[in-house]
Amino acid sequence: MNANISSASPSGPAGSESNQVIHPIADPVNWEARYVIGDTPWDKGCAAPPLTEFLAIHPVTGRVLVPGCGPGHDVRAISSQTARGVEVTGLDLSETALRIARGFSPAGSETYELGDLFQLPAAWEGRFDWVFEHTCFCAIPPERRADYVLAISRVLKPGGNYLAIFFLDPGVEKGPPHGVTREEISGLFDPDLELLEEWIPEKAFAGREGQELCQIRRKAVEAVRLKTEGC
Ligand SMILES: C[S@@+](CC[C@H](N)C(=O)[O-])C[C@H]1O[C@@H](n2cnc3c(N)ncnc32)[C@H](O)[C@@H]1O
Repeated sequence: MNANISSASPSGPAGSESNQVIHPIADPVNWEARYVIGDTPWDKGCAAPPLTEFLAIHPVTGRVLVPGCGPGHDVRAISSQTARGVEVTGLDLSETALRIARGFSPAGSETYELGDLFQLPAAWEGRFDWVFEHTCFCAIPPERRADYVLAISRVLKPGGNYLAIFFLDPGVEKGPPHGVTREEISGLFDPDLELLEEWIPEKAFAGREGQELCQIRRKAVEAVRLKTEGC
């Protein structure tokens, strides 16, 4: 992990958005209902070990978005680096997940927003220096993966970084979690977000050892310029 990672200064908080979700491709999982009944086996009660490993070596600064943040353990792990001037927004479409997240003592200046990754406010375009992915990509219907990449690419600033922990093989026949191959990741992300570095994390939650792939990708500055020129 020795990518040359850029940083930026934080500024004002992200805007709120209400959650009227209309999916062109329906998500068969009722995430809110699962939080309500406490059927949340993905919640390990602490931040993802590969993230903790990463943060011990690399600073993550500026505005950070954590999509599908659930109870917010990863949000607070990133936010706790307050001396580095970080401003983290956790996004989730489950009200109950966010109520749980807000019930923890703040680690820094983190905020939580109720909303759908596929219907983000226009004001979030180009807003974030970093997006941190952990168990959101594997939670969405695989048919929506191209939409996911578009959403991430839109909210990142030109030159912004995407740090992801991909769940390669969750070992279940029918997801979520939905597995993905390195080749699929490459095909989906390479056109929008350049791969800077990847590694298999040394630490993982029990049962996920060797099943995760971490990547750092960066949104090109040039691609945005060409798009705005209508090329
Ligand atoms: C498997 S859980 C993981 C939660 C959290 N990342 C963790 O590891 O504890 C997936 C999360 O993604 C959220 N989610 C699913 N689809 C979403 C969407 N389209 N927009 C925002 N959040 C979404 C769910 O509500 C749920 O909290």
